[in-house]
Amino acid sequence: MHQNLEINYAKITYIAPSNIAFIKYWGKRDRQIPMNPSLSMTLDNCFTKTTVELKKETSIRILKSFKFEEKENIEFRARIENYLNSIIDLLPWLKYYSLEIKTENSFPHSTGIASSASSFAALAACLEEFSAHLKQRNFNANSASELARLGSGSAGRSIQGPYMTWGLDAHIENSSNSYATKVTNVHENFQKMNDSILIVSSEEKSIGSTAGHMLMNTHLFNELRYIQAKDNISDLLKAILVGDFDTFGTILENEALTLHALMMSSNPSYILLEGRSLDIIKAVKSYRSRTNIPVYFTIDAGPNIHLIYPDKDKAQVLEFIQSTLLQFCEKERVIHDHLGFGAKKIEAYFE
Ligand code: PMV
Repeated sequence: MHQNLEINYAKITYIAPSNIAFIKYWGKRDRQIPMNPSLSMTLDNCFTKTTVELKKETSIRILKSFKFEEKENIEFRARIENYLNSIIDLLPWLKYYSLEIKTENSFPHSTGIASSASSFAALAACLEEFSAHLKQRNFNANSASELARLGSGSAGRSIQGPYMTWGLDAHIENSSNSYATKVTNVHENFQKMNDSILIVSSEEKSIGSTAGHMLMNTHLFNELRYIQAKDNISDLLKAILVGDFDTFGTILENEALTLHALMMSSNPSYILLEGRSLDIIKAVKSYRSRTNIPVYFTIDAGPNIHLIYPDKDKAQVLEFIQSTLLQFCEKERVIHDHLGFGAKKIEAYFE
């Protein structure tokens, strides 16, 4: 066992990207344990930058201040405070330090892009950096992923990249319910992929993902969904390893539509897609059958459409977005992103 170091003050900054799920995590139990394995692509341009200042105290309230984009934010603060209190068993040192947290996103606020994945990943990376220094060991990506997962399940997949799986599955090497692991041996066809996020609406969702996960507990189709997800992840992994765009795209779109079909068939039911989301879906299908260009859609828990395509077809896809899809976007908004490699340390200072 390493001795704990005496640290009175630390300032740690990390950036961590968002990720887009190809195989969707939908349904959970206990402490953020997924009901099925998921797989995602780590992004790069859409990230959160978080700075944590830690001070040793004798009597404390763990979270001293929390600022989002330079302003106090009561709603986010409460969530972060609950989170920190919930992980004291994993990070007992939290009882002896006060934290000042500053966080900002690279992507504009209110675009309807969930920032919980990137923000919990960035915060978890800072916490793991501190733990590692305290115990005089190296930063451990699995520990950071586990901490991130406890904040928001999908955040566990944002610590590393380019492709991550999370959730125990007998057919996936090194898989775990606790943290995400990297997909290895990715075929060269999948090594340079883009995600153009078409912003259909930036309005707040009527039902958040926590409530959505809950509705799966009593969903009539839940068991079948978990079986489907396991089959899909196994086939999608094979497609990524052999470079098969057709199989990849078929599964990608099936997962997106299944997620929304599950919402529509929940009790109570709800619909997050907009008419313009469907316009985009139809236009993408028709463009693909005309051109044979491997551009496919996926959708998060919201109305915005993610277009996934290889770099070699970028010029044509951008032209297609410009000429046909922009009209369906709110204020013609699109965010162009691509494969990324996870959390990055910006600074770590200890005294
Ligand atoms: O991480 P959460 O609890 O916000 O759930 C994310 C759920 C989806 O984004 C819909 C799917 C996924 O795997 O990211």
